[in-house]
Amino acid sequence: MRTPIIAANWKMHKTVAEARDFCRAFLASYAPDGGEVVICPPFTALGAVAELLAGSVVKLGAQDLFWEEKGAYTGEISPGMLQDVGCDYVIIGHSERRGYFGETDADVNRKVKAALAHGLKPIICLGESLVQREAGQTEKVVTEQVRLAYEGVAPSSAEQTVIAYEPIWAIGTGRNASPEEANRVIGLIRQTVAGIYGDGVAEKIRIQYGGSVNKENIAQFMDQPEIDGALVGGASLDPAGFAVIARGGRS
Ligand code: PGA
Repeated sequence: MRTPIIAANWKMHKTVAEARDFCRAFLASYAPDGGEVVICPPFTALGAVAELLAGSVVKLGAQDLFWEEKGAYTGEISPGMLQDVGCDYVIIGHSERRGYFGETDADVNRKVKAALAHGLKPIICLGESLVQREAGQTEKVVTEQVRLAYEGVAPSSAEQTVIAYEPIWAIGTGRNASPEEANRVIGLIRQTVAGIYGDGVAEKIRIQYGGSVNKENIAQFMDQPEIDGALVGGASLDPAGFAVIARGGRS
């Protein structure tokens, strides 16, 4: 059995004070149920959120990293820095990073390997655009993204990773993929992982759905056999709402 994992991706939201308020309110209303919950604030709030989450079951994640350990890379954050501040997870290859900042599948692969080398668990984001979906390329796009993200990653490391299937047309649009369709594509992603690493690893890797998940629809996604959790953007900003989502919709 895979442990469900629900992650909050705050994107470029919340000051340090707002992040602290969120954590206090969230921890007051979230009743742990054995699932894993991860909060991914912006870099500036990682330290404050780490302090407030200490002693709770809720884990800390970052939204990106750079693959080098240190050096003249103005503006970048290294895997060791994330580990130092208390991160367990790091989101890699979000479609906003691929789209706005030109991240390629090769960059994603280097980041995945750097994260794993420092004991950080990558949440690897992938998914097709609307144009690709309408051209019937969904399967081709996601299988290629999986293949390239894991190039050169050892099976024992691959087991530590989480994949977030996020169709780009469903992110922040209020237009989610149907739970059945998300389940179908996630099943295909799992088959692709099985093709690389075998069934044992594929059965262990957790695969989330992301794209307009909220407290009303989360339970339908969690009911699907292939879907192990969710990566939640907009709806993760409200502590009471996210406390419901973190329990898979059971308040
Ligand atoms: P959304 O974002 O929940 O606001 O659609 C999801 C994501 O981008 O991870």
